[in-house]
Amino acid sequence: MPITFKSVEDTQGMRTAGRLAAEVLDYLTPHIKPGITTKEIDRLAAECMKKQDTVSATLGYQPAGYPPYPASLCTSVNHVVCHGIPNDKPLKKGDICNVDVTVIRDGYFGDTSRMFMIGDVSIAAKRLVNITYEAMWHGIVKVKPGARLGDIGWAIQKFAEGHGFSVVREFCGHGIGRNFHEEPQVLHYGKPGTLEELKPGMTFTIEPMINAGRRDVKEWGNDGWTIVTKDHSLSAQWEHTILVTETGYEVMTLSAGSPPPPPFVNA
Ligand code: MF3
Ligand code: CO
Ligand code: CO
Repeated sequence: MPITFKSVEDTQGMRTAGRLAAEVLDYLTPHIKPGITTKEIDRLAAECMKKQDTVSATLGYQPAGYPPYPASLCTSVNHVVCHGIPNDKPLKKGDICNVDVTVIRDGYFGDTSRMFMIGDVSIAAKRLVNITYEAMWHGIVKVKPGARLGDIGWAIQKFAEGHGFSVVREFCGHGIGRNFHEEPQVLHYGKPGTLEELKPGMTFTIEPMINAGRRDVKEWGNDGWTIVTKDHSLSAQWEHTILVTETGYEVMTLSAGSPPPPPFVNA
């Protein structure tokens, strides 16, 4: 399937879906504390989506070769890199947890994730979470017509590796619109001036997975989904859905509770 370019009407639909996905994270935020289980977070998300009149894109999602995904969101704790399935284990002080929400409204998809630090976390964990957030934004600010996908990947890789962390290669950002995962693939590593040229109307996610240790990952257990770091080091991820505008970018997954961009953005 080729890259789809969004009309003005499409971008309006994407803006709504994106904001609603972010508002699910806002709704969950006060609950994400020591003692809550990730299953309980999933239940709260389902409740919120019902109130919003959105549908989870992950529940029952089944790409080729995968079992149907069993939950309304993904919860990836500590050394889980992505696609963690909510379970009955309570979160405890010191954990870091990615919550990744994708909703559908009027046929349009909005996809965003944030990191949550549970109680006081180690300085090393805090640093990983914050550097990963800045890494995502280093990618976002590269977005404008005429730039290339390799510019985004390079900016993220250079920043993350410059802080002693590693970039996961096996999973990437993706085009998004009336489908969950469209072309292009948005790698979080690469070389400037390479790959697809960005043009107005493209919408895709930027969602770097950054490891404190080595970049290698493996499947965990036999649920068909959960990905962990091979060396069991901590992993963090943040995600926004982005529109290429005539002059730059628009973040489509902002809400009242979104953390502000880091100071270097628009500085
Ligand atoms: N939301 C994830 C992404 O950013 C995909 C999750 S697929 C699932 O692309 F099935 F694991 F939920
Ligand atoms: Co995504
Ligand atoms: Co996502």
